[in-house]
Amino acid sequence: MDRSLGLAPASVRDYRELARRALPRQLFDYVDGGAYEERTMAANLADLEQVRLRQRVLRDVSQLTLGTTVLGEELALPLVLAPVGLAGMFARRAEVQAARAAAGAGITFCESTVSICGLAEVAAATSRPPWFQLYVMRDRSFAEQLMDRARDAGCSALVLTVDLSVVGARYRDVRNGLEGRLPPLKKLLRGLDFARHPRWVREVALAGKPLTFGNLEGAVPGATTPGAFRDWVDRQFDPSVTWDDLAWVRDHWKGPLVVKGILDPEDAREAVDRGADAIVVSNHGGRQLDGVPSTVSALPPIVEAVGDRVELLVDGGIRSGLDVVRALALGARACLIGRPWAYAVAARGERGVAHVLQIIREEMEVAMGLTGVADVHRLDRSALVDDGRRPPPLPGTPTI
Ligand code: FNR
Repeated sequence: MDRSLGLAPASVRDYRELARRALPRQLFDYVDGGAYEERTMAANLADLEQVRLRQRVLRDVSQLTLGTTVLGEELALPLVLAPVGLAGMFARRAEVQAARAAAGAGITFCESTVSICGLAEVAAATSRPPWFQLYVMRDRSFAEQLMDRARDAGCSALVLTVDLSVVGARYRDVRNGLEGRLPPLKKLLRGLDFARHPRWVREVALAGKPLTFGNLEGAVPGATTPGAFRDWVDRQFDPSVTWDDLAWVRDHWKGPLVVKGILDPEDAREAVDRGADAIVVSNHGGRQLDGVPSTVSALPPIVEAVGDRVELLVDGGIRSGLDVVRALALGARACLIGRPWAYAVAARGERGVAHVLQIIREEMEVAMGLTGVADVHRLDRSALVDDGRRPPPLPGTPTI
């Protein structure tokens, strides 16, 4: 937007810039950042950009099919809004706004365990049932309660996130004092940054209350601030979790079960053997273990291992409809997007998320039109140059 008039956002990248301006620094960095030196986070984007689309011309692409099904559920686009914790800190009741935008676009919103708006609030706000994302917590009986609530709220799938048994350090959060206790002067500096964002203070800090973790009320007696909840949440991540816990979830949750956070074909086989109905190939948006492969490079061996037994979804670095087409051509059934909707809701609320989904739709239409593939179900490696084997990067490839 810097070199143009900057009058209207055109891309997810532009929404990132609007979010950077709208949010206090520590919140923007919480969304935008990743683990350690952020190499995996950058690789998610860079590796996708290197997958070259194969232009094919003079095919009838007048009727495009972008819709698909995931776990039997109709999606107008092969896209789901990924679970994003604390989203209600980015915009007023942001999870409700995003779920409404998703429903308006005919796709599904996935509610995080650690959302600000509770599941009941989100489910009541839209006609489309959300998915519910769960962590395996130390307090297994509370996790069972959450599954029961998800069932009662009509959630159409449970997403079990398995890549958070230990929490990856995010250096930006440390630098911004989001972790640990701050001395008074540094607290004041942080307060000044909040004061420089009066719209956020008005819309979120004041009008967006209560800023508590809606799904955890009752679990953390007496907690009234996000910080008090966070301490509890941090204590709940359980490094002793094993595949038997997946079997326990499978026993308790009777509906479709999605396992999120798989990067390895062996783990993918194990997840399918233990009853997963779908897998999200994910490195948590590069927020957990820096140094693991990008998801677009992890996807093909997993397609090879279990692609005929389970539906494969992928997330991490999807920033455009072109990226969705790339991921589908490499074997994914659909993609999840995390930061793109978080940037959009921070910048413009429900309207922003709806616009980002529209942008992705239009980008997909162009990518499908010019690769000559009119139906998402027919996207395969033949839509890619050299079957998707990656050439050296284009010079000056930008990353966000
Ligand atoms: C996440 N992610 C995440 N995943 C999850 O299972 N439960 C959660 O609560 C969260 N919280 C969360 C917060 C923030 C700010 C971000 C950016 C991400 C991971 C998320 O679901 C998804 O895997 C990634 O965001 C995908 O990468 P992109 O699309 O952000 O590049």
